[in-house]
Parts: sequence; structure tokens; C-alpha cells
Amino acid sequence: MEAPSQKSLEKVVSQRALQMSNSFPCQICVVCFFCGVCLTSLFLAALTSFGAFEFGVFPFAGFSTWNSTTQMINMVTSEDCDYKAKETEGRMNSQKIDERSTDEKASLLYSVWSALLNESMVQDSEFFQRFGLSKSSVPKAPHFENCKLNTQVNKRLDARGKNGRFPPWTIWKGLLDIYPPSETDEQMRYLRQQAMSKGSYPPWITGSDEDNYPFTRKVQRDIWSHQHPSNCRDPNVRFLVTDWERLPGFGMGAQIAGMCGLLAIAIKEKRVLVTNYYNRADHDGCKGPHRSSWSCYFFPETSQECRDRAFELMGTKEAWANGTITGKDNYSSKEIWAGPTPRVWGNPWSYLQPTTEINGSLIAYHRKMDRRWWRAQAVRYLMRFQTEYTCGLLNVERHAAFGWEAAKMVLSGLSQKWPEDGMNKPRSDIEEFVWSNHKAWIPRPLLSLHVRMGDKACEMKLVEFEEYMRLADRLRQQFPHLNSIWLSTEMQEVIEKSNLYPHWKFYYTNVRRQVGNTTMATYEASLGREISTNYPMVNFWMAAEADFFVGALGSTWCYLIDGMRNTGGKVMAGYLSVNKDRFW
Ligand SMILES: *[C@@H]1O[C@H](CO)[C@@H](O)[C@H](O)[C@H]1NC(C)=O
Ligand SMILES: *[C@@H]1O[C@H](CO)[C@@H](O)[C@H](O)[C@H]1NC(C)=O
Ligand SMILES: *[C@@H]1O[C@H](CO)[C@@H](O)[C@H](O)[C@H]1NC(C)=O
Ligand SMILES: *[C@@H]1O[C@H](CO)[C@@H](O)[C@H](O)[C@H]1NC(C)=O
Ligand SMILES: *[C@@H]1O[C@H](CO)[C@@H](O)[C@H](O)[C@H]1NC(C)=O
Ligand SMILES: *[C@@H]1O[C@H](CO)[C@@H](O)[C@H](O)[C@H]1NC(C)=O
Repeated sequence: MEAPSQKSLEKVVSQRALQMSNSFPCQICVVCFFCGVCLTSLFLAALTSFGAFEFGVFPFAGFSTWNSTTQMINMVTSEDCDYKAKETEGRMNSQKIDERSTDEKASLLYSVWSALLNESMVQDSEFFQRFGLSKSSVPKAPHFENCKLNTQVNKRLDARGKNGRFPPWTIWKGLLDIYPPSETDEQMRYLRQQAMSKGSYPPWITGSDEDNYPFTRKVQRDIWSHQHPSNCRDPNVRFLVTDWERLPGFGMGAQIAGMCGLLAIAIKEKRVLVTNYYNRADHDGCKGPHRSSWSCYFFPETSQECRDRAFELMGTKEAWANGTITGKDNYSSKEIWAGPTPRVWGNPWSYLQPTTEINGSLIAYHRKMDRRWWRAQAVRYLMRFQTEYTCGLLNVERHAAFGWEAAKMVLSGLSQKWPEDGMNKPRSDIEEFVWSNHKAWIPRPLLSLHVRMGDKACEMKLVEFEEYMRLADRLRQQFPHLNSIWLSTEMQEVIEKSNLYPHWKFYYTNVRRQVGNTTMATYEASLGREISTNYPMVNFWMAAEADFFVGALGSTWCYLIDGMRNTGGKVMAGYLSVNKDRFW
């Protein structure tokens, strides 16, 4: 430990100790406790109880419940003295722990949450050493999701039950479905089974039918059912196996749009779509079988059994010859990009609710409405369940963007004495089964603003940031409680311009952005595969989670965000666009 800090520590500590008790041994012990050098004295003090040595008054949060000498000594013998002392010093500067400023507490809470995000940091004892807090005294982070649990729940919701039954999709959300008492009630179970067998409630669809594009629920159920035949080895089950587009000119949005086209073909030809190599997942973040696969980010488009079967068949000439297998090369790019939309559900696109405004007018009708409807369905299906990996990325992103705000918000509802007082964490069924099904907190209402510039000029007329902001202000006139913007853009220039709008609160990812006129491909290459995929993926999801939307429908990316809006219960949020799709 450096001398100056040691000195000031002693000063602070002895002041504190003097307040606690006038007895000399106590003073020593408090100092020793923090330096881990004076064990004997501590022993002496503890064993002989010089003065009124009460562990309960220790300024260390969480210590109030520690009343065994051995536990104390274990703490002291840690080699981590330097760190701990510094931590403590910061905290001891104020007279009393509960008088620490809100900012200090928020900062403590923020760093504790940061550590909790990190899987490798779950050891309770280590945690205690680092923060002087027991884990149980840490309030829940409202902006985190329990990724492990969610993935488990979703796995169950993505697999057929016995006898090929639909997964347990019911009107009971998430964990509520496994609420124990219901298991024992025969009649209830029967009724549930009835509800489930129809599969009417694909759990990834939120909002009522009026809040989504026509037939969204039914279409999602049917696509799922089509993609998950109950027996993949049935000789009548045929497959379309394809890689994702990988030509360098294809942006991420274009790759997804291309896959939407292939899904349409698969539905029309009654084939199960199986996606193979996904170049953007070809990085170290995607582990094991998920490397180079869509399943790194989202649940795979079909079951593992069907994937296995399809790959097996791919190796046999006969399966290609007798048409059981086709690949992307069997279809022209015109069929993939501009082929007709499946008619299985009639033509619901002909009566879409007009909710898009371009250049001051509501667009009730435009060309290619079928494609817009279909891409929305397909992208929603492909992204129906996040993997644990994606969920974790989103936790990290939300923490970076909203963590500080969340910490202050949570603190404002806690006792003034936190962390000394610890937390009273009730754990009853309603937390477990009902409240845990809520989405993670984000500051709402949130406006999603995607500004696409860069090298997109070849496809669409570029619009200045000012125009986007004009639309944002227009929204705010109608909804004055709206003041937060999720800004996604790859242009550094746009981020800088956002400073000119202090009446808005901007949130954005902290990533190096494009400067000047470098091409998208060069820029992405400079970020590396992992970041250049994860960062837009996370931004896409954040944008789709927003409450209001401003963007450029001329860009595929915005077009897909709009699709997520229209199948995510937000038709009535509307979409203000600075331009239109080039095919309209
Ligand atoms: C503290 O000591 C009391 C009495 O010995 C015991 O009942 C209690 O469980 C102890 N508390 C802790 C946290 O060890
Ligand atoms: C997680 O912890 C490990 C080991 O302590 C550290 O190397 C890593 O940087 C941490 N990651 C984050 C995101 O904090
Ligand atoms: C096509 O070939 C595969 C592989 O040999 C075989 O399993 C399948 O039954 C054949 N299908 C038809 C319709 O002949
Ligand atoms: C798909 O392409 C392969 C090879 O190019 C060919 O052998 C096969 O007959 C084609 N299948 C269909 C259904 O056209
Ligand atoms: C927007 O609308 C105005 C009048 O309503 C029209 O003059 C103008 O050409 C339109 N701009 C675009 C880009 O369509
Ligand atoms: C980029 O901008 C510079 C100067 O602004 C110009 O000289 C260069 O040709 C531009 N490059 C491309 C690829 O447009």
C-alpha cells in the first residue's frame, strides 16, 4: 500500500474508530482490520473483548449480521488488502455510511451489477471481498434478464410434446405455465391441454390481433408447425438447405431479407427450411455447434432432428435426384428476392392498417404490400427466441446504456440506510411466476431512430439528420412525455450532431463509428467479425423494443425494424419515414 493513502486511511479510520469507541485497542483493531497486518491484536481484542467492541457497528455493509470471530479473521487474512482498503477509504470519508451521497451509492450499485453480469464473478465470498456486500443485499437489476432461465423456458416452448403435440403455448405466460398447483388439478390440466393443442398462442407474439399485422398469430403458428414436423425422418418430409448470403456486398439486413425469400419458397414448396453457414457467426463468441450458425443468436429455424436429417440426406445423390433436397442454387435470385408471397393465408396484405407516414401523408396503399407483410412475418419467426448469448449481449448493452439510471431509480426506492441495512428480498410465487415474465426495464417511452447514411447512397436518396429530428419533434408534440431516443447509426457525424438537440436524451452503443466516406465493408472489416455482427444485432433488437419509430424505409434495415414493429404488437405506434422503399 502506498504511504499517503495508508496515512489518510489511518486518519479516516481512527476518526471513525474514535466515534465508535474511545478505547485504544478498538482503534488499532479497526486500522488493522483494513490492512490485514495486525492479526494478533485483533485476536486479542476479539477474544478479550476490550471495550465495547461491537462488530455490528462496522462500517462495512453486510457486516452487521456477522458475529463470529473466525469469519472476521477469514476476511482479514485476505491478501487483497490494498484494494479493499481503497474501497473502504472512499466509503469512510463520509461520517456515516448511510450518509454516502446518492451518486456514490449508485456507483457502487452500478459496479456490483457490472460484476454480476460477468459469469466468472459469481463466487459469493469473492463478491463480498470486492464490494463489502453480500449478494443477498444487492437489489435486483431491473434492466437485466435472467438469460439462463429464459433460455430454458423457451427451449420448452420450442419443442413438440408427446405424440407430436404443440408445445405448451397457452394463455399463461412464461413460467406461469409450470406453476406447480396447476399440475395436480385434473380438470384444469385437461382444459389447458385443450387450449394447447390448438397452438393458438405462439408465445413470441405480444399484443392482440389488432396490434399486429393481420393473421400474425396464425401465421407464426403455421410457420413454426411447418418448420417442426413431428417426424423429420418421414420420407415425405422434404428440405431446402441453404447458406446465408455471403457475398461481401450483402449487409446484414440484406442477408436476412434474402432468407425471408427462401423461407417463402420453402413454404410454397412444402419444404422444411434448414439454414447452414452464417458467415457473421463465424467468430469466437459463437461456441461449439453454434459457430457459423444462426443458432448462435436465435433459436434455429427448425428442430435439431430435422437439421440432422437434412444434412444426412444432403450427402446422398438420390435425395437430390428424387427432389427430397434442394439448395439455394436450385432457385434463381429473382425467385428468392422477388418471388410471390405464399398464399396459404389468402392475401391479408391487401387490408393492412395504414400506419406509415412519408412526407406528411399516411400511406394506405403502396406496391409490394405482400412483400412487406411477408418479410415482417418471416423476420419475426426467425428471431422468435433469443439464445442465451444474445440475451447476454442485450444485458450488457442495456447496462451500458441505462445501468446508471437504473441504479439511481432502484436506490430511490430503497431505505436510506442501504447498503448497511441490506435488503429485504421476499421471494414468493408472484415474483417467481408472474413478475419474472416481464421484460427487462428500459426507459420508456423510447423512440427508435435509425439513421442510415454511409455508402447507402447508391440505393436511396440520403436524408440529413435534421430531417429525422424534425420527425422526432413532430412525434413529441403529440406525445409530450416522449424524450428518450435510441439512436442507431454507423455514422460518427450523426452522434456528434445529436448534441445539438439537448431537449432529447440520446442513448447509443459505444462503438467506433464510420468517419468520412469509408465504405461499409471496410468499416465492418475494421471492427472485426464479432463486433461488426453483435453491435448491429443488439441495436436491431433495441430498436424493435422501442415504442415509437422514425427511420428510412428505403433502407432494408429500417424495413425489417418496421416488420418487427408490425408483428410485435406495435402497429398503432406508427412509423415516420424520411423516404420510401425503392420498390413502392
Ligand atoms: C449470531 O449469533 C447468534 C447467537 O450465537 C446465532 O443465533 C446467530 O445465528 C448468529 N448469526 C450469524 C449470522 O452467524
Ligand atoms: C469478467 O471477468 C474476467 C475475470 O475477472 C475479466 O477478465 C473480464 O474482463 C470480465 N468481463 C467483463 C465484461 O467485465
Ligand atoms: C429419396 O431419396 C432418399 C435418400 O435415398 C430416400 O430416403 C427417400 O425415401 C427418397 N424419396 C422418394 C420420394 O423417393
Ligand atoms: C437442384 O439442383 C441439383 C444440382 O444442381 C439437381 O441435381 C436437382 O435436380 C435440382 N433439384 C430440383 C428439384 O430442381
Ligand atoms: C412531399 O410532398 C410535397 C407536397 O405535399 C411535394 O411537393 C413533394 O414533392 C413531396 N416530396 C417527396 C420527396 O415526395
Ligand atoms: C472520400 O473523400 C475524399 C475527400 O473528401 C475523396 O478524395 C475520396 O475520393 C473519397 N473516396 C471515395 C471512395 O468516395
